[in-house]
Amino acid sequence: MYQKNQNTNEPSNKLSLDRRNDGVLISKSQSEQRLTAGQHIPVLLSEVLHFLEPRKGEFYLDLTAGYGGHAKEIMERTFQPKQAVLVDRDQKAIDYLEQQFAGKKPEIIHQDFASVVQELSSKGRQFDIILADLGVSSPHLDSASRGFSVRLDGPLDMRMDQSKGITASDIVNNYDEAKLAEIIRRYGEEPRANRIAREIVAHRPITTTQQLAKIVASSAGWRSGSKHHPAIRTFQALRIVVNDELAQIEISMPTLIKMLKPNGRIAVISFHSLEDRMIKRAFADEAGDRYDSTIKLLTKQPVTASDAELVFNPRARSAKLRAAVKIKKKGE
Ligand SMILES: C[S@@+](CC[C@H](N)C(=O)[O-])C[C@H]1O[C@@H](n2cnc3c(N)ncnc32)[C@H](O)[C@@H]1O
Repeated sequence: MYQKNQNTNEPSNKLSLDRRNDGVLISKSQSEQRLTAGQHIPVLLSEVLHFLEPRKGEFYLDLTAGYGGHAKEIMERTFQPKQAVLVDRDQKAIDYLEQQFAGKKPEIIHQDFASVVQELSSKGRQFDIILADLGVSSPHLDSASRGFSVRLDGPLDMRMDQSKGITASDIVNNYDEAKLAEIIRRYGEEPRANRIAREIVAHRPITTTQQLAKIVASSAGWRSGSKHHPAIRTFQALRIVVNDELAQIEISMPTLIKMLKPNGRIAVISFHSLEDRMIKRAFADEAGDRYDSTIKLLTKQPVTASDAELVFNPRARSAKLRAAVKIKKKGE
């Protein structure tokens, strides 16, 4: 799979895919991804390369470049890092990308991607390859001081961009009970939202992630047979609100499709059903057999990680990849 192309000595994008009983496509073997393991292991890397099919000279936009795992492999195949735009709203990720790609000189932007997409689009920029690998990175989850982890003790922050915006603490300690319950129900899809919100309000002020995790666990209880911490859904809800995550996707998707060049490919990896539903809908709005369709779906069902990938990257467990190719501009 990661052998060099025998004719050109270039890295190959080829991937052998299997179809599971439920129709989801998975790669046959992904053990070579261990080679790229660093701080953050890129999820579904073989599948991303398969669907994005990077080719020499192509223009690449990475909306969530993070620790450059996907970006490195894609830029190695386009041979044009200077034509790549790498975006992240996290300063630590930006520092890492600047160091990692210092000699290659891609355009690196510290900004939320919804703002970047509007700006690039207003300048008429077009791309052959667009990737969004949504959500948080492993360094976010592994560093207690960022406040994302349900298992490590840290401040209730959860901002991807720590230079601005409200923190999880602002929400937990200031929102009224009804608003808290609504957030936890809607963005955490948590059936026990009312009880959790009541307990949060009763225990204020709450200053640390462990304090919050314990309050949620004692009010929601461990579900029988579940391996997941009972506060995971509440943490997800807070994180989504703190970073305005769904609005970022909703605002950007239609413009991203417009920014694709003819035959350009877009891939989006999401990590929970709220995101996946939005991406599915945004693609469906532009795809199909209609006279005005602008894209063709490359994945009818979302692609998920193989058992082989999950062995060395359990965080890929909830990843879902959807991809599409541009067939024409609107109105053509
Ligand atoms: C799952 S990681 C991406 C990892 C990357 N593909 C790699 O291989 O290293 C997601 C990254 O996207 C960034 N991010 C999430 N939402 C963002 C947004 N709306 N705008 C810009 N960056 C965002 C996070 O800060 C994080 O670094």
